[in-house]
Amino acid sequence: MNLAIFLSGRGSNFLSIAKAIECGDLSAEITLVASNREDAAGLETARQRNIPTVVFDRKRFDQGSEFGSFMLSKLSEHEVDFIALAGYLRKIPPMVIKRYSNRIVNIHPALLPRYGGKGMYGMAVHQAVIESGDTVSGVTIHFVDEIYDNGEIIHQEEVPVLPGDTAEKLAARVLKVEHRLYPAILQELVLRENTR
Ligand code: GRF
Repeated sequence: MNLAIFLSGRGSNFLSIAKAIECGDLSAEITLVASNREDAAGLETARQRNIPTVVFDRKRFDQGSEFGSFMLSKLSEHEVDFIALAGYLRKIPPMVIKRYSNRIVNIHPALLPRYGGKGMYGMAVHQAVIESGDTVSGVTIHFVDEIYDNGEIIHQEEVPVLPGDTAEKLAARVLKVEHRLYPAILQELVLRENTR
């Protein structure tokens, strides 16, 4: 399975996926790493590993449909079968969602449907969990549709919120689970695709 990773930032989940592939735990190939930001650290990580990269900058296109077509052309150029969003902070154009129906997944650092939606990313998620007094947070992997954090949930894993936690401490605990879980669930999806 040819995988595209979409990211906007540091790309630690991308790295955990790349490492799982290298050690044979995930039967896929990352054929493209895409970002909406030219300065995303994850793009540099991709270049160091000789993985092709692309910047999807909506501002360079007058029409949303032109942007969608450009994205689709790059995905097709790199023979992408499946897209994993890993800290990608933009909506995916409708025509791409349509073409890759049930083949785009996202990871979210909380138990959706709580703590999701527009603006709920990064430390804001963990801060909201801490402020709520919840004793459990977690990780959600879900299919992507046109609404932020809304698509069908594929898998969730709980992560405890401990007394005295700060958003930073909770984020670190959740991220550790993300790094283990994302490659494992992607492997399940690869196996599912192969038996279709
Ligand atoms: C992760 O916490 C992920 O759940 C969220 O964005 C963060 C990305 O981190 N969607 P990284 O760029 O993979 O380090």
